[in-house]
Amino acid sequence: MILSAKIVPLLRKHGPDPHDGRMQEPFEQRVKRWLVAYADSFRELDALHPMLEFKLGHSARVAAYARLVAQASGWSAEETGLGESAGWLHDVGRFTQWVEYGTYQDALSIDHAQRSREVVQGSSWLETLPDAHQRRLLDAIGHHNKRELPASIDQDSLPLCHLVRDADKLDILDLTHRMLMDGTLQEAQPQLSGEPYVSDELIEEIQETGRGSYAKMRTLMDFVVVSVAWAWDFQFAATARLVLEQEMMAKLEPYLPSTERVGQLLRQARVQLEKSSAGVRLFESERKVLGEPIG
Ligand SMILES: [Fe+2]
Repeated sequence: MILSAKIVPLLRKHGPDPHDGRMQEPFEQRVKRWLVAYADSFRELDALHPMLEFKLGHSARVAAYARLVAQASGWSAEETGLGESAGWLHDVGRFTQWVEYGTYQDALSIDHAQRSREVVQGSSWLETLPDAHQRRLLDAIGHHNKRELPASIDQDSLPLCHLVRDADKLDILDLTHRMLMDGTLQEAQPQLSGEPYVSDELIEEIQETGRGSYAKMRTLMDFVVVSVAWAWDFQFAATARLVLEQEMMAKLEPYLPSTERVGQLLRQARVQLEKSSAGVRLFESERKVLGEPIG
């Protein structure tokens, strides 16, 4: 059921203050509790709409991936906690986006990253963080969905921005594979055709620029190929290593048309991942996290 826009501002104020006396608790744990309570405020008859449940699960996995990549990249405990927090919060704007507009398509509604930024900005707990951390957290949340980061962005926000963007892509790759397996990708991308073709123009664009445009996507297979192009876009060696070790791109191959051009692109993507992740090894403890249920 879609709630009226009037109720939404009230809901946005719900949720406990994570700064509520459990001072010894790491910040990211407080953020997690806040987000779960915020999501609870959208429950109706004790049930969360499946589309909101889906976003809560995605946020939990992005938080876990962000922690993992930050740890593997040698970040301090404080920075890693900030990275995990950004993962938990990056899509918090999806809740009111869904309730107000009934869609996750930004083009038909609002910029959900900007909405996420506003929701976090309106939370009283944010000011418990040092000013510089607040700014970096808000930058990472507000820019996580942009094709390019703006040139005007503070340089010290960049690592956190890149971390959330990499972690988001990791979960989308995994989700894409799961949806291909259970045949639900079409449902998730109804605007794309189910024809088993990849546009030559899209492959050329990726091979020339290392980037595939969403505007050029026509089929579900184009969508999958655009995610293969992320091999050229990952900002952390640990992300590329994770994709290789978990065979996240290799698992997409059986679903793609077996043409010479697609095969060539997949080989090039693998070479790029090897190059990007050269010298990086994930620790046993990081691998273990991947095997555990997240969230
Ligand atoms: Fe997002």
